[in-house]
Amino acid sequence: MSNEEANVSRETKRSVIGTRRLKEPMPAPITTRLFTVANQKGGVGKTTSTVNIAAALAMGGLKVLVIDLDPQGNACTALGVDRDGEGMYELLVEERPLAAIVHKVAGFPHLECAPANQELANAEISMVNMVARESILKFALNDYLKEREAAGDRLDYVIIDCPPSLGLLTINALTAAREVLVPIQCEYYSLEGISLLVSTLAKVQRALNSAVHISTILLTMFDSRTRLANDVANDVRAHFPKELIDIPIPRAVRVSEAPSFRQTVMTYDASSPGAIAYMQVAREIALRGTHNTTQTTQEPGAITA
Ligand SMILES: Nc1ncnc2c1ncn2[C@@H]1O[C@H](COP(=O)(O)OP(=O)(O)OP(=O)(O)O)[C@@H](O)[C@H]1O
Ligand SMILES: [Mg+2]
Repeated sequence: MSNEEANVSRETKRSVIGTRRLKEPMPAPITTRLFTVANQKGGVGKTTSTVNIAAALAMGGLKVLVIDLDPQGNACTALGVDRDGEGMYELLVEERPLAAIVHKVAGFPHLECAPANQELANAEISMVNMVARESILKFALNDYLKEREAAGDRLDYVIIDCPPSLGLLTINALTAAREVLVPIQCEYYSLEGISLLVSTLAKVQRALNSAVHISTILLTMFDSRTRLANDVANDVRAHFPKELIDIPIPRAVRVSEAPSFRQTVMTYDASSPGAIAYMQVAREIALRGTHNTTQTTQEPGAITA
Protein backbone atom coordinates (compact mmCIF):
# COMPACT_ATOMS: atom_id res chain seq x y z
CA MET A 1 0.00 0.00 0.00
CA SER A 2 1.36 3.43 -0.93
CA ASN A 3 1.60 6.17 1.66
CA GLU A 4 -1.26 7.98 0.03
CA GLU A 5 -3.47 4.89 0.10
CA ALA A 6 -2.56 4.32 3.73
CA ASN A 7 -3.59 7.90 4.54
CA VAL A 8 -6.87 7.56 2.68
CA SER A 9 -7.69 4.31 4.42
CA ARG A 10 -6.83 5.83 7.79
CA GLU A 11 -9.07 8.82 7.06
CA THR A 12 -11.87 6.58 5.84
CA LYS A 13 -11.59 4.42 8.91
CA ARG A 14 -11.79 7.48 11.13
CA SER A 15 -14.85 8.95 9.46
CA VAL A 16 -16.64 5.58 9.46
CA ILE A 17 -16.11 5.25 13.20
CA GLY A 18 -17.39 8.79 13.69
CA THR A 19 -20.43 8.21 11.50
CA ARG A 20 -21.38 5.04 13.31
CA ARG A 21 -21.47 6.86 16.64
CA LEU A 22 -23.32 9.78 15.18
CA LYS A 23 -26.14 7.51 14.08
CA GLU A 24 -27.05 7.15 17.74
CA PRO A 25 -28.43 10.55 18.67
CA MET A 26 -28.30 11.59 22.30
CA PRO A 27 -31.50 12.51 24.12
CA ALA A 28 -32.17 16.23 24.48
CA PRO A 29 -33.03 17.68 27.89
CA ILE A 30 -36.45 19.25 28.33
CA THR A 31 -34.88 22.61 29.18
CA THR A 32 -31.39 23.89 28.47
CA ARG A 33 -28.88 22.40 30.93
CA LEU A 34 -26.37 24.92 32.26
CA PHE A 35 -23.09 23.43 33.47
CA THR A 36 -20.11 25.07 35.10
CA VAL A 37 -16.93 23.02 35.07
CA ALA A 38 -15.07 24.05 38.20
CA ASN A 39 -12.22 23.00 40.45
CA GLN A 40 -9.87 25.63 41.80
CA LYS A 41 -6.98 23.19 41.53
CA GLY A 42 -5.01 23.74 38.32
CA GLY A 43 -4.48 21.14 35.62
CA VAL A 44 -7.11 18.62 36.73
CA GLY A 45 -8.81 18.36 33.34
CA LYS A 46 -11.45 21.13 33.45
CA THR A 47 -10.80 22.38 29.95
CA THR A 48 -10.19 18.95 28.46
CA SER A 49 -13.48 17.72 29.92
CA THR A 50 -15.37 20.86 28.82
CA VAL A 51 -14.34 20.71 25.18
CA ASN A 52 -14.56 16.95 24.75
CA ILE A 53 -17.91 16.52 26.46
CA ALA A 54 -19.23 19.52 24.47
CA ALA A 55 -17.91 18.04 21.21
CA ALA A 56 -19.36 14.62 22.02
CA LEU A 57 -22.79 16.07 22.85
CA ALA A 58 -22.71 18.07 19.60
CA MET A 59 -21.77 14.92 17.69
CA GLY A 60 -24.81 13.31 19.31
CA GLY A 61 -26.99 15.94 17.60
CA LEU A 62 -27.38 18.33 20.55
CA LYS A 63 -26.92 22.10 20.36
CA VAL A 64 -24.07 23.12 22.62
CA LEU A 65 -22.46 26.41 23.64
CA VAL A 66 -19.05 26.46 25.34
CA ILE A 67 -18.23 29.60 27.31
CA ASP A 68 -14.50 30.00 27.81
CA LEU A 69 -14.23 31.93 31.05
CA ASP A 70 -10.54 31.23 31.64
CA PRO A 71 -8.16 34.00 30.53
CA GLN A 72 -5.72 31.23 29.51
CA GLY A 73 -8.13 30.56 26.61
CA ASN A 74 -7.34 26.85 26.43
CA ALA A 75 -10.88 25.87 25.46
CA CYS A 76 -10.67 28.24 22.46
CA THR A 77 -7.40 26.62 21.44
CA ALA A 78 -8.85 23.11 21.58
CA LEU A 79 -11.90 24.22 19.58
CA GLY A 80 -9.82 26.15 17.03
CA VAL A 81 -11.60 29.41 17.91
CA ASP A 82 -9.97 32.80 17.32
CA ARG A 83 -9.20 34.84 20.48
CA ASP A 84 -8.24 38.12 18.82
CA GLY A 85 -11.65 39.77 18.46
CA GLU A 86 -14.31 40.66 21.00
CA GLY A 87 -14.97 38.05 23.65
CA MET A 88 -15.91 37.47 27.26
CA TYR A 89 -14.12 40.65 28.39
CA GLU A 90 -16.49 42.86 26.40
CA LEU A 91 -19.46 40.83 27.59
CA LEU A 92 -18.55 41.17 31.28
CA VAL A 93 -17.18 44.70 31.31
CA GLU A 94 -18.79 46.51 28.37
CA GLU A 95 -22.22 44.83 28.33
CA ARG A 96 -21.80 43.31 24.87
CA PRO A 97 -24.49 40.67 24.31
CA LEU A 98 -23.49 37.03 24.05
CA ALA A 99 -24.91 36.89 20.51
CA ALA A 100 -22.27 39.44 19.42
CA ILE A 101 -19.29 37.39 20.52
CA VAL A 102 -20.31 33.77 19.89
CA HIS A 103 -18.38 31.87 17.18
CA LYS A 104 -19.41 28.71 15.40
CA VAL A 105 -16.87 25.93 15.91
CA ALA A 106 -15.61 24.70 12.53
CA GLY A 107 -16.48 21.11 11.73
CA PHE A 108 -19.44 20.85 14.12
CA PRO A 109 -22.90 21.90 12.98
CA HIS A 110 -24.24 22.34 16.51
CA LEU A 111 -21.27 23.59 18.52
CA GLU A 112 -20.45 27.20 19.33
CA CYS A 113 -18.03 29.01 21.61
CA ALA A 114 -17.87 32.36 23.40
CA PRO A 115 -14.13 33.07 23.42
CA ALA A 116 -11.87 34.13 26.27
CA ASN A 117 -10.03 36.94 24.54
CA GLN A 118 -6.66 38.24 25.75
CA GLU A 119 -8.27 41.16 27.66
CA LEU A 120 -10.23 38.74 29.87
CA ALA A 121 -7.18 38.64 32.16
CA ASN A 122 -8.10 42.21 33.22
CA ALA A 123 -11.81 41.55 33.70
CA GLU A 124 -11.82 40.77 37.43
CA ILE A 125 -10.12 44.09 38.21
CA SER A 126 -12.39 46.03 35.85
CA MET A 127 -15.49 44.45 37.40
CA VAL A 128 -14.66 45.26 41.01
CA ASN A 129 -16.84 48.37 41.21
CA MET A 130 -19.63 47.19 38.93
CA VAL A 131 -23.17 46.79 40.22
CA ALA A 132 -24.28 43.15 40.63
CA ARG A 133 -20.87 42.09 39.36
CA GLU A 134 -21.43 38.43 40.29
CA SER A 135 -24.51 38.17 38.07
CA ILE A 136 -23.34 39.74 34.81
CA LEU A 137 -22.86 36.43 33.02
CA LYS A 138 -26.19 35.11 34.32
CA PHE A 139 -28.14 38.05 32.85
CA ALA A 140 -26.26 37.93 29.52
CA LEU A 141 -26.77 34.17 29.25
CA ASN A 142 -30.48 34.39 30.10
CA ASP A 143 -30.99 37.02 27.38
CA TYR A 144 -29.21 34.83 24.84
CA LEU A 145 -31.13 31.69 25.80
CA LYS A 146 -34.42 33.58 25.45
CA GLU A 147 -33.43 34.94 22.02
CA ARG A 148 -32.48 31.49 20.81
CA GLU A 149 -35.66 29.98 22.13
CA ALA A 150 -37.78 32.71 20.52
CA ALA A 151 -36.02 32.01 17.21
CA GLY A 152 -36.93 28.31 17.51
CA ASP A 153 -33.28 27.39 17.88
CA ARG A 154 -33.01 26.38 21.53
CA LEU A 155 -29.65 25.37 22.98
CA ASP A 156 -29.52 22.00 24.73
CA TYR A 157 -26.32 22.50 26.74
CA VAL A 158 -24.20 25.41 27.92
CA ILE A 159 -20.84 24.42 29.41
CA ILE A 160 -18.70 27.05 31.11
CA ASP A 161 -14.96 26.42 31.52
CA CYS A 162 -13.55 28.13 34.62
CA PRO A 163 -10.05 29.27 35.58
CA PRO A 164 -8.24 27.49 38.44
CA SER A 165 -9.44 29.90 41.12
CA LEU A 166 -12.58 30.82 43.02
CA GLY A 167 -12.46 34.48 42.01
CA LEU A 168 -15.09 36.68 40.39
CA LEU A 169 -15.00 34.84 37.06
CA THR A 170 -15.77 31.50 38.69
CA ILE A 171 -18.41 33.13 40.93
CA ASN A 172 -20.07 34.49 37.75
CA ALA A 173 -20.06 30.98 36.30
CA LEU A 174 -21.54 29.45 39.48
CA THR A 175 -24.21 32.16 39.55
CA ALA A 176 -25.15 31.59 35.90
CA ALA A 177 -25.27 27.77 36.03
CA ARG A 178 -27.61 25.23 37.53
CA GLU A 179 -25.21 22.29 37.61
CA VAL A 180 -21.54 22.03 38.52
CA LEU A 181 -19.33 19.39 36.97
CA VAL A 182 -16.20 18.77 39.03
CA PRO A 183 -13.29 16.99 37.36
CA ILE A 184 -11.10 15.23 39.90
CA GLN A 185 -7.63 13.98 39.17
CA CYS A 186 -7.00 10.96 41.35
CA GLU A 187 -4.02 12.08 43.45
CA TYR A 188 -3.19 13.23 46.99
CA TYR A 189 -5.19 16.22 48.22
CA SER A 190 -7.82 15.88 45.48
CA LEU A 191 -10.68 15.79 47.96
CA GLU A 192 -9.31 18.60 50.16
CA GLY A 193 -9.70 20.90 47.16
CA ILE A 194 -13.30 19.85 46.76
CA SER A 195 -14.23 20.96 50.28
CA LEU A 196 -13.15 24.53 49.47
CA LEU A 197 -15.25 24.43 46.30
CA VAL A 198 -18.21 23.08 48.26
CA SER A 199 -18.00 25.90 50.82
CA THR A 200 -17.75 28.55 48.08
CA LEU A 201 -20.72 26.94 46.38
CA ALA A 202 -22.69 27.11 49.64
CA LYS A 203 -22.08 30.88 49.77
CA VAL A 204 -23.20 31.28 46.16
CA GLN A 205 -26.30 29.20 46.89
CA ARG A 206 -27.16 31.39 49.88
CA ALA A 207 -26.57 34.75 48.29
CA LEU A 208 -26.88 34.47 44.53
CA ASN A 209 -28.24 31.26 43.05
CA SER A 210 -30.13 28.78 45.22
CA ALA A 211 -30.51 26.32 42.33
CA VAL A 212 -26.83 25.61 41.69
CA HIS A 213 -25.48 22.27 42.92
CA ILE A 214 -22.77 19.71 42.17
CA SER A 215 -24.53 17.30 39.84
CA THR A 216 -21.62 15.55 38.19
CA ILE A 217 -18.17 14.35 39.22
CA LEU A 218 -15.70 12.96 36.75
CA LEU A 219 -12.43 11.15 37.40
CA THR A 220 -9.77 12.37 34.99
CA MET A 221 -6.32 11.19 33.93
CA PHE A 222 -7.13 7.92 35.64
CA ASP A 223 -4.49 5.24 35.85
CA SER A 224 -6.17 2.07 37.07
CA ARG A 225 -2.82 0.39 37.72
CA THR A 226 -2.01 2.66 40.64
CA ARG A 227 -3.34 1.98 44.09
CA LEU A 228 -3.62 5.70 44.80
CA ALA A 229 -5.95 6.29 41.85
CA ASN A 230 -8.19 3.45 42.99
CA ASP A 231 -8.15 4.66 46.61
CA VAL A 232 -9.15 8.18 45.58
CA ALA A 233 -11.84 6.79 43.28
CA ASN A 234 -13.26 4.77 46.20
CA ASP A 235 -13.26 7.87 48.39
CA VAL A 236 -15.06 9.92 45.75
CA ARG A 237 -17.56 7.09 45.25
CA ALA A 238 -18.25 7.02 49.00
CA HIS A 239 -18.73 10.81 49.25
CA PHE A 240 -20.60 11.39 45.99
CA PRO A 241 -22.34 8.14 45.03
CA LYS A 242 -25.04 9.82 42.93
CA GLU A 243 -22.92 12.53 41.37
CA LEU A 244 -19.96 10.39 40.27
CA ILE A 245 -19.99 9.24 36.68
CA ASP A 246 -18.29 5.91 37.09
CA ILE A 247 -16.59 6.01 33.71
CA PRO A 248 -13.06 7.26 34.48
CA ILE A 249 -11.23 9.11 31.74
CA PRO A 250 -7.93 7.28 31.24
CA ARG A 251 -4.65 9.13 31.04
CA ALA A 252 -4.11 8.97 27.31
CA VAL A 253 -1.56 10.52 25.00
CA ARG A 254 -4.07 11.35 22.24
CA VAL A 255 -6.11 13.47 24.67
CA SER A 256 -3.10 15.65 25.48
CA GLU A 257 -1.92 15.84 21.85
CA ALA A 258 -5.24 17.01 20.39
CA PRO A 259 -5.09 20.71 21.52
CA SER A 260 -1.77 21.23 19.74
CA PHE A 261 -3.67 20.46 16.51
CA ARG A 262 -6.43 22.90 17.62
CA GLN A 263 -8.79 19.97 17.95
CA THR A 264 -10.72 17.99 20.51
CA VAL A 265 -9.77 14.34 20.83
CA MET A 266 -13.25 13.57 19.48
CA THR A 267 -12.12 14.71 16.03
CA TYR A 268 -8.39 14.17 16.40
CA ASP A 269 -8.72 10.45 17.09
CA ALA A 270 -12.31 9.34 17.65
CA SER A 271 -11.35 5.72 18.17
CA SER A 272 -8.72 6.35 20.86
CA PRO A 273 -9.47 5.27 24.44
CA GLY A 274 -9.77 8.87 25.69
CA ALA A 275 -12.30 9.79 22.98
CA ILE A 276 -14.34 6.66 23.62
CA ALA A 277 -14.43 7.41 27.35
CA TYR A 278 -15.51 11.03 26.79
CA MET A 279 -18.21 9.83 24.36
CA GLN A 280 -19.54 7.43 27.01
CA VAL A 281 -19.43 10.14 29.66
CA ALA A 282 -21.32 12.58 27.42
CA ARG A 283 -23.95 9.96 26.71
CA GLU A 284 -24.31 9.25 30.44
CA ILE A 285 -24.69 12.99 31.14
CA ALA A 286 -27.34 13.25 28.42
CA LEU A 287 -29.19 10.21 29.80
CA ARG A 288 -29.09 11.50 33.37
CA GLY A 289 -30.69 14.73 32.21
CA THR A 290 -33.62 13.10 30.54
CA HIS A 291 -36.10 12.33 33.26
CA ASN A 292 -39.34 13.27 31.51
CA THR A 293 -37.56 14.40 28.39
CA THR A 294 -37.98 13.63 24.74
CA GLN A 295 -35.60 12.14 22.21
CA THR A 296 -33.76 14.75 20.15
CA THR A 297 -35.40 15.50 16.85
CA GLN A 298 -32.30 17.00 15.29
CA GLU A 299 -30.18 15.13 12.82
CA PRO A 300 -27.00 13.79 14.45
CA GLY A 301 -24.14 16.16 13.72
CA ALA A 302 -21.58 15.12 11.16
CA ILE A 303 -17.91 15.80 11.74
CA THR A 304 -16.45 17.67 8.83
CA ALA A 305 -13.12 18.58 10.41
N1 LIG B 1 -7.05 12.12 30.00
C1 LIG B 1 -5.89 12.77 29.82
N2 LIG B 1 -4.79 12.10 29.44
C2 LIG B 1 -3.60 12.76 29.26
N3 LIG B 1 -3.44 14.08 29.44
C3 LIG B 1 -4.51 14.78 29.83
C4 LIG B 1 -5.78 14.18 30.03
N4 LIG B 1 -6.65 15.14 30.45
C5 LIG B 1 -5.96 16.29 30.46
N5 LIG B 1 -4.66 16.10 30.10
C6 LIG B 1 -3.61 17.10 30.03
O1 LIG B 1 -3.39 17.61 31.33
C7 LIG B 1 -3.14 19.02 31.26
C8 LIG B 1 -4.19 19.73 32.12
O2 LIG B 1 -5.48 19.52 31.56
P1 LIG B 1 -6.51 20.70 31.43
O3 LIG B 1 -5.89 21.89 30.73
O4 LIG B 1 -7.75 20.16 30.86
O5 LIG B 1 -6.72 21.05 32.96
P2 LIG B 1 -7.41 22.34 33.58
O6 LIG B 1 -8.02 21.91 34.87
O7 LIG B 1 -8.30 22.98 32.59
O8 LIG B 1 -6.15 23.27 33.82
P3 LIG B 1 -6.21 24.80 34.31
O9 LIG B 1 -6.53 24.73 35.75
O10 LIG B 1 -4.83 25.34 34.03
O11 LIG B 1 -7.27 25.49 33.51
C9 LIG B 1 -3.22 19.40 29.79
O12 LIG B 1 -1.91 19.41 29.29
C10 LIG B 1 -4.01 18.27 29.17
O13 LIG B 1 -3.68 18.07 27.81
MG1 LIG C 1 -8.32 24.95 31.91
